[in-house]
Amino acid sequence: MIRVIDREGAEHELETLDGWRVMEIIRDHGLPIKAECGGACSCATCHVYVDAAWLAKLHPPHDEETAMLDEAFDVRPNSRLSCQILYGPDLDGLTVTLAPEVG
Ligand code: FES
Repeated sequence: MIRVIDREGAEHELETLDGWRVMEIIRDHGLPIKAECGGACSCATCHVYVDAAWLAKLHPPHDEETAMLDEAFDVRPNSRLSCQILYGPDLDGLTVTLAPEVG
C-alpha cells in the first residue's frame, strides 16, 4: 500500500504491485498525474514530494533524475520523480504528495 495526498489535500491509500513504478500505481488508480513521457525520466510531470520519514529509505536519485528535477516546477528537498521509484515490500506505507501541475 502507498499513501498519496492529492492536490486538494485528500489522502488515498492505493493497493500496490511489487516491481511497479510508484508513478504507474498512482496513474492506474486514476489520480491526476500526467507522466507524459511514460516513465522515461524525461518530462518531470510525475513529480511528487516524499514524506520526510520515507526519504532516506529510497535509493538516491541517479543523475538523469536529478537533471530532470532541476527543470521541474516548485522543487523541494524532498522532490522525486515517481517513475524512478520502484515499489517493493520495503516501501509498504510510502507516503507521497502530488506536486503542483505545470502549465
Ligand atoms: S513520467 Fe516522465 S519523468 Fe516520470
